[in-house]
Amino acid sequence: MTTRIAILISGRGSNMVALADAVREGRIPNAEIALVISDQPDAKGLAIAEERGLKTVVIERRGRKREEHEQEIVSVLRAERIDLICLAGYMRVLSPFFVDAFSLRILNIHPSLLPSFPGLDAQRQALEHGVKVSGCTVHFVDNTLDGGPIIAQRAVPVLDGDTVESLSSRILEQEHILYPEALASVLALRQQ
Ligand code: GRF
Repeated sequence: MTTRIAILISGRGSNMVALADAVREGRIPNAEIALVISDQPDAKGLAIAEERGLKTVVIERRGRKREEHEQEIVSVLRAERIDLICLAGYMRVLSPFFVDAFSLRILNIHPSLLPSFPGLDAQRQALEHGVKVSGCTVHFVDNTLDGGPIIAQRAVPVLDGDTVESLSSRILEQEHILYPEALASVLALRQQ
């Protein structure tokens, strides 16, 4: 059976593209990117998703309470019979209402080796701390900030003279490899 996946974005959408390419090329078998949801109407990733013929929906918060916004997202996900959700640069923290509605069915990618440097500006946190190795993590989303069970990680060296930009782009290259691999491994287990 095909697993119907929704990708939630807020911005650039490069991880969304990496996942969509992997599905299209058969590297994530028995899966379909059924929907891309953005909370930002001007997210660059939205236009890219549309160019690729993916179904997109914008669900703006528009001054509403978080629960109300999430209720709309969850009802769209249910209407589309979504099995699994991939957060890909989605810049809002999910409330327990959302997380519990899709328990162990929400994945996120984070640009550090968790549990180090959760939250915003992970690459800057890593540089400021002076670590010599950082990387990226795909994990299940639970009700902690970037603290859910880890699925897969890739390490990246921090080089002398690195800036936030240079480290971020070295990590991003690895994110684009890691996320499709991690999603494929989760689906392989679910589809056993
Ligand atoms: C990535 O660095 C991801 O790890 C983090 O947000 C960024 C999203 O980039 N959660 P993109 O929108 O996928 O290009």
